Amino acid sequence: MSQQFDVVVIGGGPGGYVAAIRAAQLGFSTACVDAFKNPEGKASLGGTCLNVGCIPSKALLQSSENFHAVQHDFAKHGISVAGAKMDVGQMIARKTEIINKNAAGIGFLFKKNKVANIHGLAAFKGRQGDKWLIEVTDGGKVVDTLEAAQVIVATGSSPRQLPGLATDNHLVLDNEGALALSAVPKRLGVIGAGVIGLEMGSVWKRLGAEVTILEAAPTFLAAADQQIAKEAFKTLTKDTGLDIKLGVKIGEIKAGKKAVTVNYELNGEAVKADFDKLIVSIGRVPNTRGLGAEAVGLQLDERGFVAVDEHCRTNLPGVWAIGDVVRGPMLAHKASEEGVAVAERIAGQQPHVDFGVIPWVIYTSPEIAWVGKTEEQLKAEGVEYKKGTSGFGANGRALGLGQAQGMVKILADAKTDRILGLHMIGPMVSELVSEGVVSMEFKAASEDLARIIHAHPSLSEVIHEAALAADKRALHG
Ligand code: FAD
Ligand code: NAI
Repeated sequence: MSQQFDVVVIGGGPGGYVAAIRAAQLGFSTACVDAFKNPEGKASLGGTCLNVGCIPSKALLQSSENFHAVQHDFAKHGISVAGAKMDVGQMIARKTEIINKNAAGIGFLFKKNKVANIHGLAAFKGRQGDKWLIEVTDGGKVVDTLEAAQVIVATGSSPRQLPGLATDNHLVLDNEGALALSAVPKRLGVIGAGVIGLEMGSVWKRLGAEVTILEAAPTFLAAADQQIAKEAFKTLTKDTGLDIKLGVKIGEIKAGKKAVTVNYELNGEAVKADFDKLIVSIGRVPNTRGLGAEAVGLQLDERGFVAVDEHCRTNLPGVWAIGDVVRGPMLAHKASEEGVAVAERIAGQQPHVDFGVIPWVIYTSPEIAWVGKTEEQLKAEGVEYKKGTSGFGANGRALGLGQAQGMVKILADAKTDRILGLHMIGPMVSELVSEGVVSMEFKAASEDLARIIHAHPSLSEVIHEAALAADKRALHG
C-alpha cells in the first residue's frame, strides 16, 4: 500500500528541503526523501551543502583563519601567543558538531511544517492515473512506496572524476575527503583552481601544508571579472602562499601506498610531482543515477542534467527539477530559490527567479564576491558602461580589522546609470555583496548608491566610494 502525498520532493539538500517546507506552508501534504548518510551511517538532512559542502568548508576556513591570525596577525595588536598548536581532530569535531546541529534543525523544521521525512533512495517506478509512483529503497531493500501528482527532483550533484583515477578519500580526495583529513599533509596537490580548490587549498595551506594547485585553464577564475581575478591571483599566491600553476595538462597519475605521483605538462615541459594527498576538484556532475529517469522517460540534456525550462518544468507533467541537477550555477541559494519558486508555481502563483542577479562568493582570504555582469561580458555584449573602483587600503574599518586588502568595482550602464555588476575582493565581501543584489533587484542606478548614507566606519563605505567614482566624484580617491 503506497503513501499518498500532494508533493514528493526527492533530495533533502538546500533545494529539496526548502522546496518541501514551502510546499507544506502552501497547504500541500508533502514528503521529502533523502538518501544521504553521514560517516556513522545515519541519515543526515541538508545534502551536499550541509554535510560535505558549504557549511563544513566555511567551518574549516574559519578555524584555519583563526590559526593563521594567531601566528601572523596577533603580534601587530600587541598580543603574543607562544606555542600555538593546531589540533586537527578538534577542528574536525567542531565541524561535525555544526553539521549535526543544522541537520537536526532541518528535521525539526520538517516536523514543525508536517513534512514527512523519509530516508532512502527514491526512484520513479511509473504512473498510476495522474499520480507518479515512487519507490524508496535503503540498502537495496524497498522501504516505502509513494504516490504524488507533483514531484520535485532535487538530487544534487557529485564530484566529477578524472578518467582512470579512483577517489579513495585516503590519498586521492574529493570534497568529502578534503573536509575530513585527520592530519595536515606535508605536500598537498590540488587539481582544479576552481572554487573548491581555492577554498580547500587555503584551509590546508594555512594549517601548514605546501599546496600546489594544477589548473588546466590558462585564465585564473575565468567566470570572475578579470580585474578582480588578477588581484585574487596575486594575493592568493603571494600572501596566502598557494602555488597555482595555470595552463597545466595533467598526464598519468599514480597512487602508491603513501603518496600520489602526478605527471603533468607545463609550458611544454614534463613535470613529475609527488604529493602526500591529492584533492581532485574539477567540477561536479548531476545526480541522476538510480532515479529511474529512463523508466518514465524523464528527459536529460546533452550534459546529463535534467532538462528544464525557465520555470524548472521537466518534459513530464507534474515533474519539476531544481538545484545542481539542472542547468545554471551550482550554488545552494540558487537551489533554494528554485525550490521556493516551484512550490509556489504548483500552488498557482507566478514566482520569478532572477538568474541575472545571483551572488557568487569565494571564501578565500580575502574573500571574492560578485553579482551581475563582468567587464568582459559587457564588452563581449557591446554594452556601453562606466565603472568606478575603490580600494579597502584607506578604509578605516578595514585597517582596524587588519584586512585592508582588495577593492570594489561597480559597473553601470553608460546612458541610464543602472547598475550592471558589482565585483569585489576584500574583507567580508560575502556580506557586502548583498548591497549589490538589493540594488540590482530594485534596478538602482550607481548614483543611488552614491547618495545613500553608509555607516562610518564600515567596510560598506568602499562600495559608496566606488559608486561616487563611477560618477568621477570620489571623495577619498
Ligand atoms: P544537494 O545539496 O547535492 O542535495 C541533494 C540530496 O539528494 C543529497 O542529500 C543526495 O544524497 C540526495 N539524493 C540524490 N539522489 C537521490 C535519490 N534518488 N533519492 C533520494 N535522495 C537522493 N554553494 C554555495 O552557494 N555556497 C558555498 O559556500 C558552497 N560551498 C561548497 C563547498 C563544497 C566543498 C561543495 C562540494 C559545494 C559547495 N557549494 C556551495 C555548492 C552547494 O553545495 C550546492 O550547490 C548545493 O548543495 C546544491 O543543492 P541541491 O539541493 O541541488 O543538491
Ligand atoms: P569549478 O567549476 O569551480 O572549478 C573546476 C576547475 O577545474 C576549473 O577551473 C577547471 O578549469 C578545472 N579543471 C577541469 N578539468 C581539469 C583537468 N582535467 N585538469 C586540471 N584542471 C581542470 O568546480 P569545483 O571547484 O569542483 O566546485 C564545484 C562547484 O561547487 C562550483 O562550481 C560551485 O558551483 C560549487 N562551489 C561553490 C562554492 C561557493 O559558492 N563558495 C564553494 C565550493 C564549491
